[in-house]
Amino acid sequence: MKLSNNVMSMQFSPIRKFNGYAFDAKKKGKKVYHLNIGQPDISTPPAFLEAVKNFDETVLAYAESGGDTKLIEAVIQYFNRFGAKIETEDILITNGGSEALQMVFSCILDPGDQVMMAEPFYTNYHTFIAAAGGEIAPITTTAEEGYFYADPVKLEKAYTENCKAIAIVNPGNPTGCTLSEADIQVICDFAVKHDLWIVADEVYREFVYDGGKMNTFAKYPAIADRLIIVDSVSKRFSACGARVGFVLTKNKDMQDGLMKIAQGRLCCPTLEMLGAAALYELPGEYFNETRTEYEQRRDCVYRELMKIPGIVCQKPGGAFYIMAKLPVESTDDFLVWLLTEFDDGGETVMYAPAEGFYATPGLGKSEIRIAYILKQEDLVRAIELIRLGLEKYKAEGHR
Ligand SMILES: Cc1ncc(COP(=O)(O)O)c(C=O)c1O
Repeated sequence: MKLSNNVMSMQFSPIRKFNGYAFDAKKKGKKVYHLNIGQPDISTPPAFLEAVKNFDETVLAYAESGGDTKLIEAVIQYFNRFGAKIETEDILITNGGSEALQMVFSCILDPGDQVMMAEPFYTNYHTFIAAAGGEIAPITTTAEEGYFYADPVKLEKAYTENCKAIAIVNPGNPTGCTLSEADIQVICDFAVKHDLWIVADEVYREFVYDGGKMNTFAKYPAIADRLIIVDSVSKRFSACGARVGFVLTKNKDMQDGLMKIAQGRLCCPTLEMLGAAALYELPGEYFNETRTEYEQRRDCVYRELMKIPGIVCQKPGGAFYIMAKLPVESTDDFLVWLLTEFDDGGETVMYAPAEGFYATPGLGKSEIRIAYILKQEDLVRAIELIRLGLEKYKAEGHR
């Protein structure tokens, strides 16, 4: 039996595809420090579970396809903080940011259409875009340049006539790159010039460091009709298992397209939407503590990484990821070796190898993505394990 060309063109996620090796290592009694997945260890605010516990209906019924009214209202109030005026019909609640992205690309793309994206990018965009029949037109960035892409020359170089959209993740996963207001303006002008949709994935909006300003594309009225914002409670409120996200767009045709798909999948989970509404009702100060914690972790990881001879790494301005180029030919091979051959005092480490975060074949083979979602003492040890592993790997003659 034959599978579709779409699914055959997809890859397994580099964030999860080595889990089997980690599982075996743990079965053998090794402790594995996980830096591979963006699963925060920060506690989910108790308001979520309290709201779920207070549910007092006798039937757990289907919700509206567009989402629970209370949640939509809470999201609108949240956006008021940024001076963005959002109406009820502009929001469609989804099963996480992941479903939001799948729906959006299904609405935008026909077979062969392209989406511009800075590479390295959040690897699951490969899957979302391929599932909709599309391809990525990569804006290639490098570790040496700090993965910066909001540059008109770079954008023009990546553009092709098949491009229908430009997708932006700000702050960036996996690079942690953050855009200034001037950078956002460059992207808006470019999108208007080439008549592109702007898909702005802002799931890390609050995680901006060094006193940097939180930004949202929702503040730019000139692009309102081509703008699609994707958002989620997963990272913002450390509630990945809730599976609640949303799409925000003022484009009426897009709203209709999204609603057709939303009605086909009926609705999002009723209880989780109640919990998510309580999260969006939390005051803006809620983020201060989390932001400080992540900023300290970023400083810690960067400091420890810079102790590794031959590493190329820039200090990122946001999200909770850092990319690093290691002095090895293949970070896939090095990771398998770390999980199968190596330990220091019964401990080893797992990162996400970065090749799968690129669209251009051959790029990213020496790079890794680290999610700094552990306590600082664990981060120090995990990076030490990468350093010790590298020393031994090289001493054994691997390249
Ligand atoms: C940039 C980005 N967008 C979207 C998602 C999807 O998140 P979720 O489906 O949990 O909302 C993730 C998850 O890691 C992400 O990093």
